[in-house]
Amino acid sequence: MKQINITSQDNIKHAFDISFLNEDRAKEIAAYHQAFPMYKETPLVRLSNLAKRLHVGDIFVKDESHRFGLNAFKVLGGSYAIGRIVADKLGMDLKDLPFERLISDEIRDKLGEMTFVTATDGNHGRGVAWTANQLKQKSIVFMPRGTAQERVENIEKENATVTVLDKNYDECVQIANALAEENGYVFVQDTAWEGYEEIPAWIMQGYMTMSYEIYQSLEEQKVQPTHIFLQAGVGSLAAAAVGFFANVYPGDKKPVFTIVEPDVVDCLFQSAKKQERVLIGGEYSTIMAGLACGEPNTTALNVLWDYAEHFLSAGDSFAAHGMRLLGHPMTGDEKVVSGESGAAPFGVITKVLAEENYADIKKELGLNEDSVLVFISTEGDTDRKNYEDIVWDGKYPSVED
Ligand SMILES: Cc1ncc(COP(=O)(O)O)c(C=O)c1O
Repeated sequence: MKQINITSQDNIKHAFDISFLNEDRAKEIAAYHQAFPMYKETPLVRLSNLAKRLHVGDIFVKDESHRFGLNAFKVLGGSYAIGRIVADKLGMDLKDLPFERLISDEIRDKLGEMTFVTATDGNHGRGVAWTANQLKQKSIVFMPRGTAQERVENIEKENATVTVLDKNYDECVQIANALAEENGYVFVQDTAWEGYEEIPAWIMQGYMTMSYEIYQSLEEQKVQPTHIFLQAGVGSLAAAAVGFFANVYPGDKKPVFTIVEPDVVDCLFQSAKKQERVLIGGEYSTIMAGLACGEPNTTALNVLWDYAEHFLSAGDSFAAHGMRLLGHPMTGDEKVVSGESGAAPFGVITKVLAEENYADIKKELGLNEDSVLVFISTEGDTDRKNYEDIVWDGKYPSVED
């Protein structure tokens, strides 16, 4: 039996201020994204047949492979943060800079030349490079060792200068920051630490468009989620969703939040267990590239400490199982093309529900026949070679040899 680790926070305080993730802000930011010509709400897929099979009330999966043609949700954060940076630089309100104006020659001339710098496992950098390219500005992107060539090429297609370093993600972040400081470039990172909090908070706010769409769709269907599962690297995405859903479902309506990480680099799991910010350095290897981060976003960690009940960590075979199950659904359910980081929570939880071995975890999470589960498939097949190796050829099997 492959191992799933769990740590739970029994007395969460609901104290950290999450008003920056409230419904009004989300609505305003969704309107900003909705003005992009490539905007289209991504599908919220209902897997009712699988829910029956696994003896839960219902299962919903938000499919972010359709986001702006970029195969992942991350562009929502980078595009909103860069919009805010541009508006600030021009002394304007972002409301007066809808997409067509933001990318116009008038604005380009007013701004002059700008260079945006970031580090990425793939998806965030692609979103930053895409936005910079739309603005006819430059971008420089650093990527960690082991990065798939397809992810490099997708960022280069956005006219970015990409360098793969023999470093891990967190070391790439430091190098990107130093380069930006030395040259007066704009550093746009999707994680925060003491003294670097404003831009990462905008990025987290940008991610709310996705949760806002989920919320609207569930409201239309008159469905109330009981459990929301979120994958985490540095925790920005998870905290943005936790903050938003805790705001829109207050009090007794609050869903149970569970955070999922790779077991080889589980900085939020460890930080919840020890109740202090744990940094994981050195070398680690996981197929969940987007979740391979060892240093929690400080703001996100405060949100998760105060609002998330459970933290899980598991190995690559669970992510692979999630990819296969989403790509080959039960008859009558729709398929979702989901990548390694996108499918991780789904892979873990469907195993928990299906196998008696994990009954204790199922109980601890409070899952039963009335539960309504929400997952976010945060990316599609962003590394197609690995996707085919896993989904077609059965790499990273769930079953022990
Ligand atoms: C596809 C995907 N899912 C989830 C995450 C995790 O987001 P965060 O680092 O904000 O926790 C990432 C981060 O790059 C990602 O690319």
